[in-house]
Amino acid sequence: MRILIRNGTVVTSEGKQAADVLVDGERIVAVIARPGPDAGLTDQAAAALVAFGAEETIDATGKWVIPGAIDAHTHMELPFGGTYAKDTFESGSRAAAFGGTTTIVDFAVQPKERSLQEGLDTWMKKAEGNAVVDYGFHMIMSDVNPESLKEMDRIVDQGVPSFKLFTAYPGVFLSDDGRILRAMQQSGKNGGLILMHAENGPAIDVIAEDNFLAGKTDPYYHGVSRYAVFEAEATNRVIRLSEAAGVPVYIVHLSSRDALDQVRAARDRGSKTFAETCPQYLFLSLDDMGNGFEGAKFVCSPPLRPKEHQEDLWNGLIKDDLQVVATDHCPFDFHGQKDLGIGDFRKVPNGLPAVEDRVDLVHDGGVVGGRITPERWIEIVSTAPAKIFGLYPRKGTIAVGSDADIVVYDPNRDRTISAKTHHMDVDYSCYEGRVVKGASDVVMSRGTVIVKDGEFVGPRGHGRFLRRDRADWVRKN
Ligand code: URP
Ligand code: ZN
Ligand code: ZN
Repeated sequence: MRILIRNGTVVTSEGKQAADVLVDGERIVAVIARPGPDAGLTDQAAAALVAFGAEETIDATGKWVIPGAIDAHTHMELPFGGTYAKDTFESGSRAAAFGGTTTIVDFAVQPKERSLQEGLDTWMKKAEGNAVVDYGFHMIMSDVNPESLKEMDRIVDQGVPSFKLFTAYPGVFLSDDGRILRAMQQSGKNGGLILMHAENGPAIDVIAEDNFLAGKTDPYYHGVSRYAVFEAEATNRVIRLSEAAGVPVYIVHLSSRDALDQVRAARDRGSKTFAETCPQYLFLSLDDMGNGFEGAKFVCSPPLRPKEHQEDLWNGLIKDDLQVVATDHCPFDFHGQKDLGIGDFRKVPNGLPAVEDRVDLVHDGGVVGGRITPERWIEIVSTAPAKIFGLYPRKGTIAVGSDADIVVYDPNRDRTISAKTHHMDVDYSCYEGRVVKGASDVVMSRGTVIVKDGEFVGPRGHGRFLRRDRADWVRKN
């Protein structure tokens, strides 16, 4: 299909320009600049367009034409906390598409005492034929041992060059420092990237137990028990381990100014340290965890922090100490899942829904809020994750030869976030009633329009597995 997107303003991380975009099949084949936002094409460009013979024209007058966003941290169907993250690859990726996200990178899990390959094969089966946007995988290493270390190389060769390890969740995912260092050394040999969940899990468990035994059983105490200093300590520790191994490291879901200080210090001394934060840490706070058991809607790890942390995180994004906003999308229904933790906050499944709302929230809080430019917004939600995770320039930009993952974005449309209208398969929204400025009008994935006029119009199972390149970009930047 040959599609012309005309009269819009193309916004990438590099700049803005009035331009028409031509798509042929799955790729962008031309970006034709116009002399100005209200100006028509030159005669020569107009003639080229006629020759192109578009079969469909999308009018983007007054709109931005942006690269499809990339959510580098999702958990569809994750078995966790005695239940499953509710969104399947089908429902979660459809919700992502509504929100302008055309690529997700989800986490395949190595089952305890089994191989990495078994985990990857399981997640491949969950996604294949179900996801409606393109998807890649990171690999969660639950069991670092000589076998799984060797296996890492074969996983990288299959286009899965990133591995998540944890200093949290003792008995479930936690790896000790020696195992983390071994995995880092291996990533130095195979070109992979280590992603760290950095919180001191054993220390958190002590405080959580103290609070529980003192009768503090509400979800609020989940937030209170997971001290920011435990995040900062673990963040510094894993960064130091990565320095010892001479490899880059990527800190996932960074939530606090204390942890950010560690990342900034590391970057200032020349470490190849990268970090993401998530919408929940920019827009929600410990205050949301009050109100009795309602607070369970906001239980995630690391937890929501006191409000004062939010502006520091925005500053981290402005100054590039934080490079990415991903969601850590991991939704559990309030009724039937979160309520596993009634009477004991330690049993509330950890995770929040967000895959549909990230792009608009960061636009609203960042661009409309006057904190970042539209170009920086694109960088944070699309281009940087593409570069860091080996997808650039196939994804993350509007350029000739790139996949035609394109969003026609209305920066002026008001949208009210609500569980009544969202497409995520979860019975509540953390942002219920919040009005955001900016919304996706048309969403295209590899040249196929998948969302238009508020409807999903794409084919079932349109998404494809993305074999990602080795983490060369983080080694050189
Ligand atoms: O609360 C969270 N973050 N749930 C998902 C699992 C993880 O640690 O990313
Ligand atoms: Zn995590
Ligand atoms: Zn996560």
